[in-house]
Amino acid sequence: MRTKIKAILHSKSPIENTKVDVYGWVRTLRNQKNFAFIEINDGSTLANLQVVADGKIADFNKVEKLTTGASVKITGKVVKSPAAKQSYEVQAETIQILGECDAITYPLQKKGHSFEFLRSIAHLRPRTNTQGAVMRMRNSLAFAAHKFFQERGFNYIQTPIITGFDCEGAGEMFKVTTMDDFKDFSKDFFKKPTFLTVSGQLNVECFACALSDVYTFGPTFRAENSNTARHLAEFWMIEPEIAFADINDDMELAESFIKYVIKDSLQNNEEDLEFFDKFIEKGLIARLKHVLESPFQRISYTEAVEILLKSNKKFEFPVAWGKDLQSEHERFLTEEYFKKPTIVNNYPEIIKAFYMRRNDDNKTVAAMDILVPKIGEIIGGSQREERLPILEEKLEKMKLSKEDYWWYLELRKYGSVPHAGFGVGFERLTQFITGMENIRDVIPFPRFPGHATF
Ligand code: 4AD
Ligand code: MG
Repeated sequence: MRTKIKAILHSKSPIENTKVDVYGWVRTLRNQKNFAFIEINDGSTLANLQVVADGKIADFNKVEKLTTGASVKITGKVVKSPAAKQSYEVQAETIQILGECDAITYPLQKKGHSFEFLRSIAHLRPRTNTQGAVMRMRNSLAFAAHKFFQERGFNYIQTPIITGFDCEGAGEMFKVTTMDDFKDFSKDFFKKPTFLTVSGQLNVECFACALSDVYTFGPTFRAENSNTARHLAEFWMIEPEIAFADINDDMELAESFIKYVIKDSLQNNEEDLEFFDKFIEKGLIARLKHVLESPFQRISYTEAVEILLKSNKKFEFPVAWGKDLQSEHERFLTEEYFKKPTIVNNYPEIIKAFYMRRNDDNKTVAAMDILVPKIGEIIGGSQREERLPILEEKLEKMKLSKEDYWWYLELRKYGSVPHAGFGVGFERLTQFITGMENIRDVIPFPRFPGHATF
């Protein structure tokens, strides 16, 4: 039976002299004629397992054929390691090479490749320390997100990927068609224009208006031509939606969510977080603990604009009431001014999506964005407009057809309730927790303008 390397290196009970079968890929090899030290990794944990092969074992001749990247099965005995940094190592009894690895062409032969180069070998980069740690972290974050909502009695709803709607109204959708040209939709598969969804929100709202507390967690797609370290064309979003709730409940929930996943990471991902703290972002763990302890700052958009105008800082994009905040403005607020996560709310109606609830001032909507150091916007959410006449008026104003949204409008006709929700960019969350600079390095296979290999 296969024993995971993690089970050996992080064993809670003494496992000395246990016989094990371990499998993995060779990371380094030192062959000293009478002895060989083989470090193998199976991805279950960051650290490698040291295997010691005595020259007297029958399989010792196989060590010659071993190179970095080769896959092996080792049977042997767990012994206390004399090397200080690890608790146990394995004394090999048999060595079986499962797959040889060409030492000349294998791209991960040497250490210290740039992240950019590693993106060009995205099929092999999971074998690097950084990618291994990022993917284990991403996995834990997904699990933590589910735990957070499940513990609070939310139901997980799977919303469709193919849609007829532009939820955000930004016109950044990928078309879905089986036709060579787009002239006559009546002949197309769905007999209407369809797209890859930019958000599951409108669909999940139907379920909030029945099951009260729900969330969706799935891939979303945006054809925005943004070549930045914060944008992907395909990214994952966690979108909770709560009924009988207003914007304050929404902000509460979002702040608790961020704190929950940080706490969970600090508890369950110590080894990988220490790696990130050492090699990716110095001070990462202290930053996360600081976020955990700080009540998030809450300010209105109007206050944010005043702070920015008074800041005397040279921004590339001008600041004015009624203009959307740019990433440089967001980062100034959270990184330099407040030095902690900041929730900006009550944005001008004209810059926000049609579904957001109009405030009594008739100028702003009950929207909220959470800005965090290093990332900028990590969460975007709002209370939804539950009053039918106002929602209809807003659709009209934004030149969206009432007919297309008939079912969304009916939620407001039959037992309408105040409700609210938000969307967490899952890759931005992963960046925030790992300190990784580029969003392309926290998703297995990134899609961005000009890139859809693998
Ligand atoms: O602010 P956004 O556009 O909000 C929505 O889509 C709402 N429907 C969510 C809701 O209320 N249910 O996107 C939400 C989050 C952003 O805050 C950001 O973290 C992330 O999704 N995001 C992206 N992440 C990576 N690449 C992109 N191109 C992103 N666009 C948005
Ligand atoms: Mg947004």
